[in-house]
Amino acid sequence: MDFLYSLLVAAHLIGASLLVGTFFLQMRAKSGHNFTIMLVGASIQLASGVALYGLAMAGDADVNHMKLGIKGLIALVVLVAALLGFLRQRAIAGEKARLTAGGAVSVGDVALPERRLRTFFHIAGGLALVNLLIAVLWG
Ligand code: HEM
Repeated sequence: MDFLYSLLVAAHLIGASLLVGTFFLQMRAKSGHNFTIMLVGASIQLASGVALYGLAMAGDADVNHMKLGIKGLIALVVLVAALLGFLRQRAIAGEKARLTAGGAVSVGDVALPERRLRTFFHIAGGLALVNLLIAVLWG
């Protein structure tokens, strides 16, 4: 049980690194945000977090339900933002390929909706950072 708990904490820290690391690396970028890593990080984070919560409840230690409930909700928003960004980015890439293959427009004409991807990236990365701060600062 102890080993499983440690393994889950390791996965949880790797998930947090993927989310927060990618956020810091690309927060100033205008395009090319890596939503695949954000999506993987958010999924790891939610799954390992819920498993850690379950194990903590199964043990006799005091569990801060309020803190973990808030973290759970925030992690859900992080996952949805990463997923929406991922899907929208894929749709834009497909549309770009289709339009340029048909010779209808230049790639520059479809640059506008790509800027909106930044919003999803900042919601996912910023809230992951908030969750990390809640994890370490809220006793
Ligand atoms: C983006 C989402 C999340 C981030 C960035 C995050 C970050 C962290 C970090 C950095 C720690 C280590 C802090 C410490 O041990 O003092 C931690 C621990 C923990 N997290 Fe999260 N977390 C997230 C989501 C969740 C979710 C959704 C849950 C469950 C509802 C959860 C449950 C836990 C638990 C139970 C621990 C304690 C592990 C231990 O015993 O040390 N986390 N989290």
